[in-house]
Amino acid sequence: MSFKLQPAAPARPNRCQLFGPGSRPALFEKMAASAADVINLDLEDSVAPSDKDAARANIIKAIGDVDWGSKTLSVRINGLDTPYWYRDVVDLLENASERLDQIMIPKVGCAADIYAVDALVTAIESAKGREKRIDFEVIIESAAGISHVEEIAASSPRLVAMSLGAADFAASMGMQTTGIGGTQENYYMQHGEARHYSDPWHWAQAAIVAACRTHGVLPVDGPFGDFSDDEGYRAQARRSATLGMVGKWAIHPKQIALANEVFTPSDAQITEAREILAAMETAKANGEGATVYKGRLVDIASIKQAEVIVRQSEMIANSAA
Ligand code: COA
Ligand code: MG
Repeated sequence: MSFKLQPAAPARPNRCQLFGPGSRPALFEKMAASAADVINLDLEDSVAPSDKDAARANIIKAIGDVDWGSKTLSVRINGLDTPYWYRDVVDLLENASERLDQIMIPKVGCAADIYAVDALVTAIESAKGREKRIDFEVIIESAAGISHVEEIAASSPRLVAMSLGAADFAASMGMQTTGIGGTQENYYMQHGEARHYSDPWHWAQAAIVAACRTHGVLPVDGPFGDFSDDEGYRAQARRSATLGMVGKWAIHPKQIALANEVFTPSDAQITEAREILAAMETAKANGEGATVYKGRLVDIASIKQAEVIVRQSEMIANSAA
């Protein structure tokens, strides 16, 4: 470890973030009753320009009226390149109840974007005497965003989570695809007669995880558009979990159970992690730094790997209690 210690990300479950358009208030009670850890009420791209004012009013009312239980409650504002975002922030921070936990800033391109929103939010919090500090989450979904991902992760103590937004990211990068996440037909290696499909999102995900882990921010996988493809969603989510992400968005309620399944460590994973820790305890008692578990090497690094899984499962269990 560097002399500079890696800060811990917030210890709260973030396995699934369920989205719903602010212009469809009939969905809000259903969202609140769902098994998602985080609720994202949307003012951005699922809301038509003519509906922005009504969506803001719907969301502000629902933040106070709906019983959101212990969920993290977030509102996605419009991007800083639109005429809507300042009104989103002003209306929310002036009028929404203290139940609001965080705002999500889309299409972030540099740390100064966060600075601008932070300045506005800080002024309104102070003017209105708001007691709870609003947290931020951001979406990396542009060439600029991924190029500046580390400075964005470091941009504000308010920042708690960062998601990859595959669709806008693909468009900004000029990628030749209309799919929202997952396997892409033309992204494969040819080996003899066989095609091996590869993961075009891998690099961006790994860059986001590294930036987030450096700065104590939760890395999250964004949307998977084809909500009729459960196996495709699972496969994408499993890759994201393997890379270090803690959760994934749901753009339809049927995706919530899939995300919760993948991002909750399984009993088999937890058992194996505990057995590795026990094996290392025995090794330590014998004055050894390395030992053999099920025919493979485990050493002091294995303790840290196993602890990631045990800590995650304990945090999830505690938050459910
Ligand atoms: N949250 C909670 N419940 C939802 C929901 C959501 N996001 N989307 C749909 N439902 C409910 C429906 O109301 C319906 O409930 P019912 O059984 O009580 O009638 C049930 O789930 C099945 O819905 P379905 O008919 O399959 O979906 P739809 O055609 O109403 O809506 C979408 C499909 C994709 C338009 C809708 O899910 C949606 O708007 N998703 C979020 C989009 C979004 O926010 N995008 C921005 C982030 S990328
Ligand atoms: Mg987007």
